[in-house]
Amino acid sequence: MCGIVGVIGREPVAGKIVEALKRLEYRGYDSAGVATLENGHMERRRAAGKLRNLEARLVESPLHGLIGIGHTRWATHGKPTENNAHPHASDKLAVVHNGIIENFRELREELIGKGHVFATETDTEVVAHIVTEEMRGGLGPKEAVAAALPRLKGAFALAFLFDGEENLMIGARLGAPLAVGYGDGEMYLGSDALALAPFTDTLTYLEDGDWVVLTRDGAQFHDMAGRPVVRARQRTQASAFLIDKGNHRHFMAKEIHEQPEVVGRTLAHYLDMSAGRVNLPFDLPFDPAKLSRVTIVACGTAYYAGLVAKYWIERFARLPVEIDVASEFRYREAPMDPHGLMIVVSQSGETADTLASLRYAKEQGQHILSVVNVPTSTIARESHVAALTLAGPEIGVASTKAFTCQLSVLACLAVAFGRARGALDAQAEKGLVDELIALPGLMAEAIKREPKIEHLAPSLSKATDVLYLGRGTSYPLALEGALKLKEISYIHAEGYAAGELKHGPIALIDESMPVIVISPYDAVFEKTVSNMQEVAARGGKVILIGDEHAEREASIDLHAVIVMPTMAPTFAAIAYAVPVQLLAYHTAVFMGKDVDQPRNLAKSVTVE
Ligand code: G6P
Repeated sequence: MCGIVGVIGREPVAGKIVEALKRLEYRGYDSAGVATLENGHMERRRAAGKLRNLEARLVESPLHGLIGIGHTRWATHGKPTENNAHPHASDKLAVVHNGIIENFRELREELIGKGHVFATETDTEVVAHIVTEEMRGGLGPKEAVAAALPRLKGAFALAFLFDGEENLMIGARLGAPLAVGYGDGEMYLGSDALALAPFTDTLTYLEDGDWVVLTRDGAQFHDMAGRPVVRARQRTQASAFLIDKGNHRHFMAKEIHEQPEVVGRTLAHYLDMSAGRVNLPFDLPFDPAKLSRVTIVACGTAYYAGLVAKYWIERFARLPVEIDVASEFRYREAPMDPHGLMIVVSQSGETADTLASLRYAKEQGQHILSVVNVPTSTIARESHVAALTLAGPEIGVASTKAFTCQLSVLACLAVAFGRARGALDAQAEKGLVDELIALPGLMAEAIKREPKIEHLAPSLSKATDVLYLGRGTSYPLALEGALKLKEISYIHAEGYAAGELKHGPIALIDESMPVIVISPYDAVFEKTVSNMQEVAARGGKVILIGDEHAEREASIDLHAVIVMPTMAPTFAAIAYAVPVQLLAYHTAVFMGKDVDQPRNLAKSVTVE
């Protein structure tokens, strides 16, 4: 989390830095700050809260320097105040940081012992002081950074600016992403390609442990041992994507509405629609027929996409699937089968726990397949094969279109594995592919239910707790529905497997408790009806998201129904995600919440 940017330019850079920070605000928005050199001397402007507060500060008190660094913060150490806002500075330098310095307490004590005075509660400030200490000992900026970096434990991307050095910036990366951008007589540092998209499409990604020295003329890379290294330049696509809301009030609304298009685009990438088969756009570096087990690891919404995929892979490919959240998996020393495949799912491709799990599985000899939305991300690069979701940049912090694109890719993989393992014949494959092809149209139909969904928002907004229930693939969707509502409306919500209702959550049901039941008319619908009856008998308000058949057969007094188009239940979770997202969205909007940037959250979680 946190976004960092640096510019060595030919004209004043503060405007460009703020522009880049706007594109990084998804990484955190607790505070923002900029430092530039004004006539050779460090000047900072910082403000608590969102970037607009910093922009106002810069209007009152502009910066004119031709070199500068900027930061948008997701607070870890210390409250989101102006004082704790980056850049942090000493008399010699300023630094911005994304990540966590785990040994900051020891370093801080050591530096206090040497007479350093700390002004903030952050872990980052030790970085400023430790490099300063090296410089006081007589080292130049480069040597001082090289000496200090090995002392930092944890995860970081850093950008340094030095007092009196108008043509020098240093960046470093360990476990958090950082890219160098090449402009015309200008050089950039940024947390991702998106940040730098308006300025350049030519980038070099630092490898873990690298540090880089930038001047207006170019970049000199060094590895962890300080040896000069060459790192390849890449062209990125990021600039092709316009980051605006179109006609929508929020990015989240735009991204929900984009789903028929991006799911269609993603499916077209993985399917031969006319032949009715899956056509993976890459060669698999393993034979699915020889796999003994699949392990899926992810966080948040991506984890729920994996949970849905477990149903598909087990059913179509007859392969056992184990799934865990990455923060648990990475530390539990799981034994892994020699013929195993790990699938990591991640929108950003940078989530720290997911990346650590990938690395563990690699050490255990697993094949690694990632389902990622950012092709240049660390997870994509460290996988044996990256299966891309073509969702385009997702700006709303609550994931929507990335989720349905992840599901689309995972569905195609499940079918491809099934075919390769002989568990599906060509006819069965064609049937499933036809169901997939129908999805974008069904999602567009689902979006037409929006007025009805919006109508439910006022009553849902009065609830303090909401329960989501589902069976089969609707169960992970119930978890995702509860997560969406929590994230953006701050209403407490829980998702449960419908069959688990009687094992605890039924105790919560009373007249004030909305229970959202996600259920197309499928093979287990009769069982779900029993659960709805159990809720209704206790006065609970059942809101059914189901099709006409389900509505007819529900046989209870429903508080409300969102009637979905009739579809085969196999991949229905992809289309049913739409009303689930819209319900959370409209409830949060009705309540006046900041749906694109909900409190305390960030989109790219590069800390543990
Ligand atoms: C954060 C985001 C979620 C996302 C999760 C995993 O918590 O707010 O929307 O699902 O991280 O992120 P990833 O980029 O790995 O999919």
